[in-house]
Amino acid sequence: MKGVLLSGGTGSRLRPITHTGPKQLVPVANKPVLEYAIEDLKEAGITEIGVILGNKGRKAIQELLGDGSKYGVEITYIIQGNPLGLAHAAGCAKDFVGDDDFVMYLGDNILKQGVTELVDSFEAGDHGAGIALQEVDNPQQFGIADVDEQGNVTELIEKPDEPPTNLALIGMYVFSPAVFDAIERLEPSWRGELEITDAIQLLLDDGHDIDSHVVTGWWKDTGKPQDMLEANHLVLEGKSLHLDGTVEDGAETDGRIELAESAVIESGAVVRGPVSIAENTTIKSGTYVGPYTSIGPNSTLEGIHIENSVVIGDSNIAAAGRIVDSLLGRSANVKSADELLPEGRRLVVGENSQLKL
Ligand code: G1P
Repeated sequence: MKGVLLSGGTGSRLRPITHTGPKQLVPVANKPVLEYAIEDLKEAGITEIGVILGNKGRKAIQELLGDGSKYGVEITYIIQGNPLGLAHAAGCAKDFVGDDDFVMYLGDNILKQGVTELVDSFEAGDHGAGIALQEVDNPQQFGIADVDEQGNVTELIEKPDEPPTNLALIGMYVFSPAVFDAIERLEPSWRGELEITDAIQLLLDDGHDIDSHVVTGWWKDTGKPQDMLEANHLVLEGKSLHLDGTVEDGAETDGRIELAESAVIESGAVVRGPVSIAENTTIKSGTYVGPYTSIGPNSTLEGIHIENSVVIGDSNIAAAGRIVDSLLGRSANVKSADELLPEGRRLVVGENSQLKL
């Protein structure tokens, strides 16, 4: 069994955060989303991983993952180029996969329970593909599966107007090499993409059994800022106390806090977990860091109240009042304008930024 990790796409729904880098490198609890996928594949015993790269952020992804040895896996890079759909991306892995079965993992998805159960379930029978499903409230926005009373998959539809069920295909699949023949026969969908959902429907039409597996733990497609915050919340929820850094006397901490070795919580600061604070970051006196917040590296927070937020890193945030439910990109700097005249907010805001003032 090999792994194929999709890391292309434009990240348009995560702009401006993705103007400067790929969405798969945005950190959740101070770890790039893509690393969770590598760890899940490794845990399922998959160590030969093909990483499919789009046009965007290729170098940054290669710099982070390298040859995979730091994760105990072996990475082969495969260029997809223009994003012509998930099935097109999968098709690019044909030579890499050869005659093996493979797990295809969407690099911007993150799920609690990993892929081991999905792989075991696929391997227990003679299946053309294995899909992971979860009930969603908005089935029009996903690939949807219909299943009969025995749990057999009977139909798959990408983003249906009238969904037959609310069982969404989540971003992990297992395939036999038969999928490559199906991909070659695909026509672009209404959105101009070769849909992996349509390829699985073709496998079904060809008479292959499709294994389905309902995932009970949480799953997030981190495509939008709100999803990133939710994923951050869910991952932090599962963390334990890990204080490698310095908590000065007079600092108030409680709950599960992950504090990197060179990070400091100064006297007079209050940190209530679950919170993750990365290396070389200082939480100064008079600052409150509340639950479900991740603060990236090389940052200073001073005189603010922040909760349920992600600060990616290299930031200075000072005297800016209460910051909630926010995603701050790398090198974002925020400070108070209270003492400046004329009174008012001073903004240098990038394209596609979203501000609620
Ligand atoms: C893609 C797939 C869809 C699947 C979803 C999971 O959607 O096309 O079938 O349910 O990922 O995240 P997209 O993110 O391209 O809209």
